[in-house]
Amino acid sequence: MADKILIASDHAGFDLKERLAGWLRTAGFEVTDLGTENAESTDYADFAHPLAERVSDGQAERGVLLCGTGLGMSYVANRYPRVRAAVAWTPEIAELARRHNDANVLALPARFVSEQQALQILKAWLDTPFDGGRHERRVEKIERGVERSGRGRGTSGAPHEATETR
Ligand code: RB5
Repeated sequence: MADKILIASDHAGFDLKERLAGWLRTAGFEVTDLGTENAESTDYADFAHPLAERVSDGQAERGVLLCGTGLGMSYVANRYPRVRAAVAWTPEIAELARRHNDANVLALPARFVSEQQALQILKAWLDTPFDGGRHERRVEKIERGVERSGRGRGTSGAPHEATETR
């Protein structure tokens, strides 16, 4: 049975969505296109909500969202339980979003990547498994919230891990 995948965009991501949906179908995926249907101006939230809702409910395992920057789409999608939407602008970020963050939604910045780059990013995201292990614990804490994550408010953690991949 073909893997199911959802895809949606606003006007800024429309052209790229059409191309990626075509590529996904050729690659054997069962693609459900949730719009938009042309390049007329739209509001990204109108397309991100239905996709994120379906991923959150378990109706689909994965979804691809496209807007100008990927940001608006990711803001909406990440409001839904169990949705982990990653904005990725290189294949390396897409790979890490899978390995470390188990990203089940890919948010592409359509105005900042070429079709070729977008395809490489999409392939990296599709082909990379979740590493699990310590990342499983971290991903699980996303759903738990700050109070119940074991650190609580007011505890200062490292600001970032820069280039480390621990
Ligand atoms: C539309 O102009 C643009 O704001 C939208 O596609 C997206 O980039 C928002 O995050």
